[in-house]
Amino acid sequence: MSNYHIKHLEEYFQVYRKSVRNPEAFWEEIAEEHFVWRKKWNNVLSWDFTKPEIKWFEGAKLNITENCIDRHLPTRGTKTAIIFEPNNPDEEAEHITYFQLHERVSRMANVLKDHGVNKGDRVCIYLPMIPELAIAVLACARIGAIHSVVFAGFSSNALSTRINDSDCKLVITSDGSYRGNKTIDLKGIVDKALEECPGVKNVLVAKRINTKIDMKAGRDKWLQPLLDEAYADCVAEIMDAEDPLFILYTSGSTGKPKGMVHTTGGYMVYTAYTFKNVFQYREDDVYWCTADIGWITGHSYIVYGPLANGATTLMFEGIPSYPDSGRFWEVIEKHKVNQFYTAPTAIRALAKENLSFVEKHDLSSLKVLGSVGEPINEEAWHWYNNNVGKKQSPIVDTWWQTETGGIMITPIPYVTPTTPTYATLPFIGIQPALMDEEGNEIKGNQVEGRLCIKFPWPAIARTIWGDHHRYRDTYFTAFKNNYFTGDGALRDAVGYYRITGRVDDVIIVSGHNLGTAPIEDAINEHPAVAESAIVGFPHDVKGNALYGYVILKETGETRDRDNLRKEINQQITEHIGPIAKLDKIQFVSGLPKTRSGKIMRRILRKIASNDISNLGDTSTLLNPEVVQEIIDNAL
Ligand code: PRX
Repeated sequence: MSNYHIKHLEEYFQVYRKSVRNPEAFWEEIAEEHFVWRKKWNNVLSWDFTKPEIKWFEGAKLNITENCIDRHLPTRGTKTAIIFEPNNPDEEAEHITYFQLHERVSRMANVLKDHGVNKGDRVCIYLPMIPELAIAVLACARIGAIHSVVFAGFSSNALSTRINDSDCKLVITSDGSYRGNKTIDLKGIVDKALEECPGVKNVLVAKRINTKIDMKAGRDKWLQPLLDEAYADCVAEIMDAEDPLFILYTSGSTGKPKGMVHTTGGYMVYTAYTFKNVFQYREDDVYWCTADIGWITGHSYIVYGPLANGATTLMFEGIPSYPDSGRFWEVIEKHKVNQFYTAPTAIRALAKENLSFVEKHDLSSLKVLGSVGEPINEEAWHWYNNNVGKKQSPIVDTWWQTETGGIMITPIPYVTPTTPTYATLPFIGIQPALMDEEGNEIKGNQVEGRLCIKFPWPAIARTIWGDHHRYRDTYFTAFKNNYFTGDGALRDAVGYYRITGRVDDVIIVSGHNLGTAPIEDAINEHPAVAESAIVGFPHDVKGNALYGYVILKETGETRDRDNLRKEINQQITEHIGPIAKLDKIQFVSGLPKTRSGKIMRRILRKIASNDISNLGDTSTLLNPEVVQEIIDNAL
């Protein structure tokens, strides 16, 4: 029997050792015993981080939806697969059984096929958190189409860039979305995006908010009538383990978003196995992850991981503050949620509210609390532990990335003793290493360095869509024979890991991964702007907020500064989305640069954080005089 479900610390260490001594044998056993394959693999793993090329379960055939749906039908057909909790608490929640999920995914898959979507084609999904989103994802997987979900908070510009980068031929969207007491015109955003996307032939539109929208003849169709007419069964396409399952875009240090490509077999095995252990999921539990399916957390731990385990997974359409700040706690009570997985930014925002919002709800169903997306500070950790978990539910601080596909460093609840702010120990099969700046591994404990992973795990992204060189350069060149995460970390005296944050030009704002370059590009397109630099600074709810230093052109100098600030943020909203707006904008006459012309962000970061006591040596700068001016006018 494989060690599918770890139950105590000794077992963790024993299984961990086994998983790193002979990874192939370990993962083969897990894959063989817990999944259905149409054909077994010829080879468990082949890899070469210098190319880089990584293949798991090569030669195996499967369809991930048979693992997430069909195989559960004999035993769990009437079990709820998805609970849909709408934005408005007065609207009834929906319970979708595995039987119903099978039918709805099949119908959607047949609609896609009827619209010419074939194996390997890319489909863009731009939907709010409604059941159609999960169903569309699974429908693509059913027929072997590659889904590219774009978070429905991204702007038309960001959407068109992503659609074109991966040549999507069809878009699935909705008339609009609810966000608290507001509505958002999603279809309008899609229409604008598609002016730049000649490759998109069809748009399928789910009805959600019932507003009047434009439907372009020959291109746009309402989804529901098509689903009603479609055949309720769809034969699953047989895929290779290494066939792409999806593309998901993430920010990078340079302008263009990176379309991370995840493949089928390894991703399935790893997300399912981590889900089972990191949340200690038991058969009748109700699991809720508050992420959006537009992010990797939603892909791996709302859709694929839970469903591959036959779990009940809750999808929440709304926001934590609507109709009031008790909404999360009300939903936990209402659906008797057992595992709750959210982001530090949400915890910090809710911790600012009156405690009565939490106290009036019965949270006794909770067994495990999770945190993801950014470091959780000590105060937020304790608030979560004391007031939500009542010191009874372990907190799993899970560190991972879009690129890793699944959770990498994490406690296992009821197994690993937790310490606030520590992601603790590597998950089974994960071999972390800390590196110094010269590229040497720092061994031993009580050390700090750049976090790398030495050995492949089944869910590692295989490439960047259309740009394998960038994949190699970004992740595999800084540290030879290692995957470089872009994060710094420390390892304490007992070997626990604590993530200290990004060491590159990516800034995590409210758990969202934002690259500085695309934001600067957006600002620089404003006609009054000559140049700009963005840095992060600590923010008590968002973790980090964005601080922009902007040099104006001569023509901009006479303009009203507050209006300019508004216009710059509007520009960012249009190019990327409101999540990338700047909290502070300082107009400067120059930016501190090295003699080779590189902006010294370290100095700007310190000024933005109001930490000017130790700016280091500025005399080697090309323009040291600008530093004092920036300090004098700092916001
Ligand atoms: O810096 C780390 C931070 O989020 C980055 C990955 O962002 P993304 O690809 O959007 O995926 C987020 C959800 C998995 C990481 O490089 N991060 C994620 N989880 C944690 C974290 N930082 C500290 N602690 C965490 N638990």
